[in-house]
Amino acid sequence: MKISLVINGKDHEIDIDPGQYLLEVLRDLGYKSVRRSCNSASCGSCTVLLNGAPVLSCSTFAVSVDGQSIETVEGLSEGDRLHPIQEAILEEGGAQCGYCIPGIVLTGEALIRENPEPSDEDIRLALNGNLCRCTGYEPQNRAIKKAAELLRSDRDD
Ligand code: FES
Ligand code: FES
Repeated sequence: MKISLVINGKDHEIDIDPGQYLLEVLRDLGYKSVRRSCNSASCGSCTVLLNGAPVLSCSTFAVSVDGQSIETVEGLSEGDRLHPIQEAILEEGGAQCGYCIPGIVLTGEALIRENPEPSDEDIRLALNGNLCRCTGYEPQNRAIKKAAELLRSDRDD
């Protein structure tokens, strides 16, 4: 069957099997930042934004999002320039193996869009479903806060 998706602002007409999950469809299209880990809605590594809100693509049927807008990490950076959250994660030592990072970046981005001045608690709550085996979470929490500050100061300039 055919569905259409807007992925990172680009229109796609895609032939899918009715039972395919969004994760598989996105990876087949080349969006390899979308990571499969638990494949059972438990770890957050497959997070993408659906109409701006984080969803787990491993447990979202592609057919259920026909006609809607998806964002992946590939759509966040401009050319070689990293997104401020990616930059801040590197600066804070929040990326070790890196497997969880795309999901964390997208969850952080959705939080900052909705709440440009998140508290530590807001950040912890937002990232609560994004598991990281390597870092102990604090560097990533600091990075989201730092990126939010930077984006606020850019906006105020
Ligand atoms: S791979 Fe989707 S939540 Fe773990
Ligand atoms: S950096 Fe390795 S799982 Fe998060």
